[in-house]
Amino acid sequence: MSICAFIFDLDGVLTDTAEYHYQAWAALAKELDVAFDRQDNEQLKGVDRMGSLQFILDKGGLQLTASQKHAFADKKNRHYQQLIAHMSEADLFDGVHDLFAQLKQAGIAIGLASASKNAGMVISRLGISQDFDYVADAAKITQGKPHPEIFLTVAQALGAEPAQCVGVEDSLAGLQSIIDAGMQSIGIGDAKVLEQAQWIYPHIKDLQLATVLKQAAN
Ligand code: BG6
Ligand code: MG
Repeated sequence: MSICAFIFDLDGVLTDTAEYHYQAWAALAKELDVAFDRQDNEQLKGVDRMGSLQFILDKGGLQLTASQKHAFADKKNRHYQQLIAHMSEADLFDGVHDLFAQLKQAGIAIGLASASKNAGMVISRLGISQDFDYVADAAKITQGKPHPEIFLTVAQALGAEPAQCVGVEDSLAGLQSIIDAGMQSIGIGDAKVLEQAQWIYPHIKDLQLATVLKQAAN
């Protein structure tokens, strides 16, 4: 099946914001006296804000009221927004401009499927907002990753059948979302973590578009 859309995750795929999410969650976990390391964080990548907070609370055996939860989620978000305040076009990962240019040249649509409510601000700071044919609104997604809703929403908006789409993710939850959406999958990061992806590259700049398109068509 020939590919007509590439649907990207943002945090950890196009820029290093996955690290800032980790730092902000780690600070909150410390405040709550819950042990939380990078291995725990792998489970949180791609997971929405309240789901991530719940993971930390469950790990610490903590029970909070809904308003306490919202207060802690807001606190994490304020910290995260401080961490990304300095971001600029220089923070776009190497290789993204080239990849987008190649996709445009090939007539392949570009979509964004980020669970982050800060995604619009981040892509604007990175100077790539205009490159996307469609950007999912995380606030309108009712079932977060690993549910396929967000990838399917973007595919539908782009007028593409799932099988004609390639999803690109750095997270386990996001990869599951792509697979359950019936799309072809690229993992960016650790091959041991993302072993279920059809193609795995350590970094977005390593992605071999010609190879993916050729193999995807078979
Ligand atoms: C995902 C990140 O893209 O967005 C998660 O991988 C993050 O780490 C989630 O929790 C939600 O982000 P935000 O900005 O809405 O809190
Ligand atoms: Mg990610």
